[in-house]
Amino acid sequence: MTMTEINEEKRLAAERSLDYVRDGMCLGLGSGSTAAIMLELLGQRVRSGLRVRGVPTSETSRQLAELAGIPMVSLDEVFRLDLTIDGADEVDPQFNLLKGGGGALLREKIVASLSRRVVIIVDSQKQVPHLGAFPLPVEVVPFAWQPLAQRLGDLGATPILRPSREGPPFVTDERNYILDCAFGRIDDPAALAARLDAMPGVVDHGLFVGLADTVIVGRGQTTQVMERK
Ligand code: 5RP
Repeated sequence: MTMTEINEEKRLAAERSLDYVRDGMCLGLGSGSTAAIMLELLGQRVRSGLRVRGVPTSETSRQLAELAGIPMVSLDEVFRLDLTIDGADEVDPQFNLLKGGGGALLREKIVASLSRRVVIIVDSQKQVPHLGAFPLPVEVVPFAWQPLAQRLGDLGATPILRPSREGPPFVTDERNYILDCAFGRIDDPAALAARLDAMPGVVDHGLFVGLADTVIVGRGQTTQVMERK
């Protein structure tokens, strides 16, 4: 597939996700290139009179939402969200997600967990039979990143400290580091998530289990909408 075709699939999925938005809703605003398209389209609707408020899941999304004219609130003001729309790096048939390619996984997971409905928007290349071809991002406290890299290695991964454009390390919005962990095929995402959740110093990771309610896949000139049973 060409980049133009992939971008068209992202646009179609982003556009379709706005069918779930209702006047007066409080929205979780995802991060990444697909979510960026959604923010632009949402901004157009806000300029036409739609009244919504959003909680951005990254500083980049905050800037994009501001540019698009979407009113924003913080989690100090709203404790529950009606709907979150976000992208993903991989989606499996059970709606398990691998996220964090953009490094925003921590705020993304918090916002998703506070949402009544989570809609995931992806191009067709993100749909996979099993998670794990994409290295799993694990957010860790800088204090212990080296021993944690070793512990993650003991779990079967090959952790790499994510570099920034200026050189290593990339620092997340919450001032942590990311270890990109190539595990290969992840047969049991919930079991791996539980092991990572139990590791002191691991702040969070890109496995989103049981969080997605709806997956919208852009496919060619159309979209496929799937609801969790
Ligand atoms: C950022 C994410 C993104 O949702 C994920 O990386 C997908 O991004 P894109 O839409 O650019 O492919 O999890 O942390």
